[in-house]
Amino acid sequence: MRVFVAGASGAIGIPLVSQLVEQGHEVIGSYRSPGNADRVRALGAQPVPLDLLDPGAVRTAMLDAEPEAVIHQATALANARFFRNLDRAFAQTNRLRIEGTDALLAAAREAGVRRFIAQSFASYRYAREGGPVKTEDAPLDPDPPASARQTNIAMSHLDQAVTAAGGIALRYGGFYGAPNDGLAGPVRKRQYPIVGDGGGISSFIHVGDAAAATVLALGHDGPAIYNVTDDEPAPMSEWLPALAEALGAKPPRHVPRWLARLIAGDGMVVMAAESRGASNAKAKAELGWTLRYPSWREGFAAAYAPAVAAGSPSHPPA
Ligand SMILES: NC(=O)c1ccc[n+]([C@@H]2O[C@H](COP(=O)([O-])OP(=O)(O)OC[C@H]3O[C@@H](n4cnc5c(N)ncnc54)[C@H](OP(=O)(O)O)[C@@H]3O)[C@@H](O)[C@H]2O)c1
Repeated sequence: MRVFVAGASGAIGIPLVSQLVEQGHEVIGSYRSPGNADRVRALGAQPVPLDLLDPGAVRTAMLDAEPEAVIHQATALANARFFRNLDRAFAQTNRLRIEGTDALLAAAREAGVRRFIAQSFASYRYAREGGPVKTEDAPLDPDPPASARQTNIAMSHLDQAVTAAGGIALRYGGFYGAPNDGLAGPVRKRQYPIVGDGGGISSFIHVGDAAAATVLALGHDGPAIYNVTDDEPAPMSEWLPALAEALGAKPPRHVPRWLARLIAGDGMVVMAAESRGASNAKAKAELGWTLRYPSWREGFAAAYAPAVAAGSPSHPPA
């Protein structure tokens, strides 16, 4: 299939393009930062510079590329600073999820594209009520923390716009295993504490497994939403010490909720102490997806062991 990947040079774009090419797809891969053309070309794709916030450029790129499928993996998180306000850190990503998605959908429609898949997010989105693990049809959090409201609106916009157009929204878990993994640095420096009892549930996914599910979704009819998460949603009190150990770091510190709220804001407290995880049962059943790392337990160890063994603070390749 001829596939247009928007965001081919990112954390998931890179393993995704590699897997698509390996499986015989012809890939046109867009990038944003000057200098990333060679990186995309080296993966075996045809590189195209593109700003998704320029609808005219999106239209031109799509009509030129004439793809059969579009996969939207563009975010702007590489240089994001995660302080108290998630919406501030995600401002550009939120635009890519709203304006970027709309521009891609309009261009894809005009170009007669048959399949449309886009990156969404599963962790920390489901309503904080009932059991610890949620399926795709569970209600989303009706009252997200004030500092994450716009981010939740943007993700919901993407889910709705993509499925209304007959496409597939993939609600990924928290990525790990990319060379620029955002979680490893703070955990290594003991800047990521367990908040309260650490009972909030997180869902993770290795970027290689996330890419594999995405390739499988290309062969599936929409509209659909899938949680693309691993088999073991887990409380922070379990996964964070395991991550610290995998990184060769000291165990995480503990802070009470009131102190975390003061330092890091409500969003952090909700994530750490109240959030729900996501079930991957639907993606496994309908896409025929099998995971190389069914649990973050073996995934963290595999992702970080090479760097730890080498005594290097740098991250291993995905
Ligand atoms: N589910 C998750 O947990 C999740 C999801 C996404 C990201 N992250 C994390 O966030 C960190 C950074 O992610 P990342 O490496 O994927 O980088 P990123 O900065 O989020 O970029 C992702 C992709 O979007 C492209 N892009 C950025 N702005 C664009 C625009 N205006 N128009 C079109 N394309 C645009 C980038 O191009 P260039 O690279 O050429 O700039 C890149 O190909 C990593 O630690 C990653 O694991 C986590």
